[in-house]
Amino acid sequence: MTTSYPSREALRERAAAALTVARVRTAGLTDAVSDADLTAQHSPLMSPLVWDLAHIGNQEELWLLRNVAGRESMRPEINPLYDAFEHPRAERPKLPLLGPEEARRYAAEVRGRVFDLLERTPLEGSALLDDGFAFGMIAQHEQQHDETMLITHQLRQGAPVLTAPDPDAPYDPPLSAEVLVPGGPFSMGTSAEPWSLDNERPAHVRDVASFWIDTVPVTNAAYLAFIADGGYHEPRWWAAPGWQQIREHSIEAPLFWHREAGQWLRRRFGVTEPVPEDEPVLHVSWYEADAYARWAGRRLPTEAEWEKAARFDPVTGRSARYPWGDADPTPALANLGQRHLRPARAGSYPAGASPLGVRQLIGDVWEWTASDFLPYPGFRAFPYREYSEVFFGPEHKVLRGGSFAVDPVACRGTFRNWDLPVRRQIFSGFRTARDV
Ligand SMILES: [Fe+2]
Repeated sequence: MTTSYPSREALRERAAAALTVARVRTAGLTDAVSDADLTAQHSPLMSPLVWDLAHIGNQEELWLLRNVAGRESMRPEINPLYDAFEHPRAERPKLPLLGPEEARRYAAEVRGRVFDLLERTPLEGSALLDDGFAFGMIAQHEQQHDETMLITHQLRQGAPVLTAPDPDAPYDPPLSAEVLVPGGPFSMGTSAEPWSLDNERPAHVRDVASFWIDTVPVTNAAYLAFIADGGYHEPRWWAAPGWQQIREHSIEAPLFWHREAGQWLRRRFGVTEPVPEDEPVLHVSWYEADAYARWAGRRLPTEAEWEKAARFDPVTGRSARYPWGDADPTPALANLGQRHLRPARAGSYPAGASPLGVRQLIGDVWEWTASDFLPYPGFRAFPYREYSEVFFGPEHKVLRGGSFAVDPVACRGTFRNWDLPVRRQIFSGFRTARDV
């Protein structure tokens, strides 16, 4: 299906570039605030930013310097502090963490040694080294923490510190509200993508009945109609635990929204602004997405339906890496990589559409699916059980497609994200589907 890299040298360059792009973003997110801000906990849901910073370095040291290169631990005493499974987020502020300067220095020292290693190590001969997998995994890991740190920025109170231009995306209103995806088998997941993670593997055939899917993600305007129709006060639209959550916490709109003088406003990275009607809705839980879909007489797509809509080409019968084909993302195709601090309006990126004409599947907002996070047939945990396997089960729902906060290195048509159905601080939206 894809892509063996043309040469060892090109692969080395790709790995070095991915690591550098991630570190530039990490620096931007952590240099934007004071040391006091870095060590504060802005929400019990999140770590202090300084924890993420040293954890990024510590995972890089663990996988590339200790596991791949067989080196001794640089700072054995700090390893337990940065093990995400030993310390839940809420207790991390009380740990004797490295301070901001020390954390920066430690991460930089690890990176220097990793660049030396990348120049000298053969990128083959073991599952971790083949195609530079471990380097790609670590670049993705850092980018995923950068997204987490961006969520911390969104939860942080106070004046704005991050800026980015608004999307100036190519725009062309789609012709119809929904697209018919024809029934039949398609190839789901991947066995060929060199830096794909264990939960995306292996490629396997899935039979999916014909269904209709929204051409674009559900917009704020559409979601406002649900609110105006009393959607948050009508138990029949809600799964029981979702109804309980909105009653207990008096939830009446997406997270970060409030109403003032008859107008809906939202807070976005410290700026308060009117809710833009033509943008995909953001910061909704799985329960809110599910309730909206039921109110609209529709449902969330399953994960298999989402991936078929995103990757299947009915002309060739094959599944591509992305909706637009096998080429890597570019700014003309999708809103990725924190180039903007918001989604582009619905109907953007016509060049990024799938062969069937579904838009904005990649980037803009993560899309909740109906599906629980489960292993594919033939799943093998790699390189460690805690990467995915311990999260499989009905308590986590799958999100697909990435958001404006996701870097291209951590986003493809097969990429799977998961979270609890109550979560709303993440960059989550959705689209709906229906049976034929
Ligand atoms: Fe991590």
